[in-house]
Amino acid sequence: MSPSVSQPDSSRRRFLARQLRWLLAGTLTALALPLLRFAGFTVKPKPRYVTVNKKLLPGAVLTEHDFILFVTEAGARSISRRCTHLGCRVNFRMELGIIECPCHQSQFSPEGIRLSGPAQKNLAIFSVRELKDDQGTVTGYEVTL
Ligand code: FES
Repeated sequence: MSPSVSQPDSSRRRFLARQLRWLLAGTLTALALPLLRFAGFTVKPKPRYVTVNKKLLPGAVLTEHDFILFVTEAGARSISRRCTHLGCRVNFRMELGIIECPCHQSQFSPEGIRLSGPAQKNLAIFSVRELKDDQGTVTGYEVTL
């Protein structure tokens, strides 16, 4: 007498096969993402906007968490505070007129250009938009990170 295939056993096999397919799909996805990232497929992060709600006079320097804002007669410019060597947060040294990294003393001009130190690249520059009121007076700045 041959064993008969019961209905619940077949259903269990289908259930397990479906679970196995999902597990396989998840594993392949988990393995593919680092490979795609390694191959250069990166998703550019959305820009972040930081608003500075105060008018600064020409010559003013404002240090924020992610950038240093320089205001001149020609307008405002924003320099990243992330050092291009190993990522420490740089500071503007008013007495020397330079941007310096506290970690390994890379130095940069106020325009973000590398002057000395182990850093090999210039600091990133962020775009700045002046915020104005109805009369056209500058009331603040919006920095795009
Ligand atoms: S992290 Fe800035 S000089 Fe090394």
